[in-house]
Amino acid sequence: MKIIKSIPLMQSISNKAHKPVGLVPTMGSIHEGHIKLINASKKQNTTTIVTLFVNPAQFAENEDFHTYPRNFQKDKKLLSDLGVDILFAPETSQMYPSGFQTSVINDRLSSVLEGEKRPGHFRGVSTIVSKLLNITKPNNAYFGQKDFQQLLIINKLNNDLNHGVKIVSIPTVREKDGLALSSRNIHLNQSERKTANKIYASLKHAESLYLNGEVNSDSIIYAIQTYLLKESLIKIEYISIRDKFTFEDVSTVMPGSIILIAVSIGKTRLIDNLII
Ligand code: PAF
Repeated sequence: MKIIKSIPLMQSISNKAHKPVGLVPTMGSIHEGHIKLINASKKQNTTTIVTLFVNPAQFAENEDFHTYPRNFQKDKKLLSDLGVDILFAPETSQMYPSGFQTSVINDRLSSVLEGEKRPGHFRGVSTIVSKLLNITKPNNAYFGQKDFQQLLIINKLNNDLNHGVKIVSIPTVREKDGLALSSRNIHLNQSERKTANKIYASLKHAESLYLNGEVNSDSIIYAIQTYLLKESLIKIEYISIRDKFTFEDVSTVMPGSIILIAVSIGKTRLIDNLII
């Protein structure tokens, strides 16, 4: 596995890489969720590039940039064992040199849910993803469905800015008890971890209500709320039911609706979703 830190070198290697090229952007702390993306890329491409960059621009001042889990040596070994061809791991000064002043902003999808709770987050994500697409020039780029709003925004920027990449979305990978894999899960202490499976359980509860005939969004949201309020460690940030294509709120749940949840448990913020 080649490890590249310089943008010009990465660009010249990308130009010569055997096509098709698959890109898996990550912030490191590689887990099974990333591994699923990497395996999909390896199956569908001749060259797989993984990027590892903890992007400061997508964390607000009060967020966990400094405590975000980092383990470069362990990640490097794992990625090499997985058969990744190229690891692009630039320094912050490469990605954001002094004088950097251009951003990619999505006005609409970024204004709700995660965008509302984390001002500036999607501007940081959109800017870095756009840069990574320009630097690595992939044919296919792989993202997980756990960050569903991010996935929609990346699809939009890819179309709106004519990157011409195929965005491939991969279903969320879960622990045995249903908790969606996330690098942040390691911050949960034992009792928080035990409670965290209630997030997915509440989504499955909502799904069973729907399968038993309940289609009113407000009633389903209320049922999820009631379910989660029994857990004293869980603080609900939002519960929302939207159309998975337009991301508009829906009043009647139907196939193609998506239930999205954000909660905090102790100091850890977790998101999850379920597509009907
Ligand atoms: O989902 C992530 O890990 C990040 O938001 C991404 C897409 C790698 C951009 O920094």
